[in-house]
Amino acid sequence: MDADSTSTARSSPPATTYADEGPPGRPEVGFAVEAEGLVKTYDSRGGTVEAVRGVDLRVAAGEVFGFLGPNGAGKSTTVRMLTTLLSITAGTARVAGVDVAAEPDAARRRMGVALQEAGLDPRQTGRELLVLQGRLFDLSRREAAERAQELLELVELTDAADRRIKGYSGGMKRRLDLASALVHEPEVLFLDEPTTGLDPASRLTVWEELRRINARRTTIFLTTQYLEEADQLCDRLAIIDDGRIVRQGTPQELKAELRARRGLTDDPTLDDVFLDATGRTRTREAGAVQEVSL
Ligand SMILES: Nc1ncnc2c1ncn2[C@@H]1O[C@H](COP(=O)(O)OP(=O)(O)OP(=O)(O)O)[C@@H](O)[C@H]1O
Ligand SMILES: [Mg+2]
Repeated sequence: MDADSTSTARSSPPATTYADEGPPGRPEVGFAVEAEGLVKTYDSRGGTVEAVRGVDLRVAAGEVFGFLGPNGAGKSTTVRMLTTLLSITAGTARVAGVDVAAEPDAARRRMGVALQEAGLDPRQTGRELLVLQGRLFDLSRREAAERAQELLELVELTDAADRRIKGYSGGMKRRLDLASALVHEPEVLFLDEPTTGLDPASRLTVWEELRRINARRTTIFLTTQYLEEADQLCDRLAIIDDGRIVRQGTPQELKAELRARRGLTDDPTLDDVFLDATGRTRTREAGAVQEVSL
């Protein structure tokens, strides 16, 4: 199913295009991530769960895109479909112009993924892990060593590089996992809750790293529970609730829309936008508010 032949130039053309790659018929615009009508249903003993119910997304090359939503909204499910880790029930998804269902291997080479549960071998050192990862991506020994060193510097782990991962703190592991997702220089980096569970200082470190990675032209697609993080980092964001996108735009656009609609005198916060979008209010559902800002 190719629903993209109509997707021609839209506002703010991105810097990178993928038009010269792959067979004819691919979209001639530089969307780093495109999803149309994405659906995921899980069949479990308790019945069918419609986790994602028709998600359309477009992320321009070079953007930092935030994917927000309450617990269980469908964020991880969407990320796992976009990154080939989960089959797609219906709809299409492309990453860097490559259809993830039709050409999963090609799509995987264009993307890096860091999931919440980092699968790191505690017996390895950080450097060993990165070198091995480089070798798996066909780098020579020397290239893999150089790339490992470069990434260790990027995520500020040079001092701990030759220590075993089992002695790393949660924040260090998260940053190593981030580095390992970058070994093959992906065009698009997917991060599922990269800062959940980190202390405020570690969170700021990750933000700085993500800004540095993005400055090197890598598109970043991240999910987060932290609205301040989305506000600070993201060029654009989407809010998903109960498997459907309920808001999409720049943080500023979303705040301005709520301000106009409610006739507010000051700009609301992104928290207000989130609560409005997901039908929760501070007074009505205090429990849900707390859950959201975990
Ligand atoms: N393997 C599975 N089998 C059945 N249902 C599942 C499975 N994985 C997820 N779900 C359900 O799909 C829905 C979306 O889950 P998902 O993990 O995508 O949410 P999320 O937005 O990432 O939530 P969180 O903020 O808690 O990480 C939830 O209702 C969840 O219970
Ligand atoms: Mg999740």
